[in-house]
Amino acid sequence: MFKFDFKVDNGSEEENIFKDDTKEVVKNTKNETTVECYDSKEIKPPSNINENLDLYKANSMEVNAGDVTLTYIKSGDLLQFFDTNTTKDITKAEESHSDLIPGVYEGGAKIWECTEDLIAYLAINYPTEKIKSKRVLDLGCGSGVLGIYAHNAGALVHFQDYNEDVLEKITIPNVFLNLPEEESTNLDGIKFYSGDWAKYTELTKDDEKFDIILTSETIYNPDNQRKLLDTFDVKLSEKGTILLAAKIYYFGVGGGLRQFEELLKKDKRFQSEIVWSSSEGLSREILEIKRAVL
Ligand SMILES: C[S@@+](CC[C@H](N)C(=O)[O-])C[C@H]1O[C@@H](n2cnc3c(N)ncnc32)[C@H](O)[C@@H]1O
Repeated sequence: MFKFDFKVDNGSEEENIFKDDTKEVVKNTKNETTVECYDSKEIKPPSNINENLDLYKANSMEVNAGDVTLTYIKSGDLLQFFDTNTTKDITKAEESHSDLIPGVYEGGAKIWECTEDLIAYLAINYPTEKIKSKRVLDLGCGSGVLGIYAHNAGALVHFQDYNEDVLEKITIPNVFLNLPEEESTNLDGIKFYSGDWAKYTELTKDDEKFDIILTSETIYNPDNQRKLLDTFDVKLSEKGTILLAAKIYYFGVGGGLRQFEELLKKDKRFQSEIVWSSSEGLSREILEIKRAVL
């Protein structure tokens, strides 16, 4: 049985934390390796979501972050209640003992360490009075903890994750755990989107932009970073802010913060500043990213 591994990932430096030996690859006509990606769609919460709320509550924990309280599912046994056909990508990852299968499952079923860093940063620097009424996107949301912080502080939030089954089985239940009773049938502007960043951006390109984009542990794969920047460009308002939490280096996949900053410099659309850092365990930072001033 798959267990949601909601422990903080403190993998050793030697460990290849993304075992991708089972990745599904396709060769294109130039014999280059490519990974097919999922299309994007809006995911609506199932109509019977409230029937399972007691189960989610029994497996949840409450956390105080500054003046915001948030609740989320804490431990791993919930998937036993779902048909594995409806959790197919998470199940594939579990069966292959992987945190990530590129293009199939992108790691959203557990809460990653940098989410905790960013929550702590938000608690100090983005209290309710600063984030209230802002439009916020939790990009690569996984469990949705960052977006839930923003929602509970009064923001209007959209959640985006690569995997539909992560959104349905983890993100949406987590969001519902945080809704006041009267809101639980009326999502009041909260939306959920699955799929690849490029497809999501195309699907929603005409929608209103976001004041704040929160994103944690989403730069591990250099092949996807340009898509990520394009998504920032399309989805961020002119004066908007991106808060990106990540590790300095992702062993086994090649991405990392110094490499990402080089890309930002070459790309020239954005400027970034390190606003928080820690060298405890694996080194991690938070970047504040804004549109470059020309
Ligand atoms: C390592 S998980 C981090 C999840 C969560 N942000 C956290 O910190 O707990 C990486 C997340 O990035 C997203 N992601 C990675 N590549 C993506 C892509 N090409 N398109 C859309 N989302 C992607 C996935 O949705 C996944 O949840």
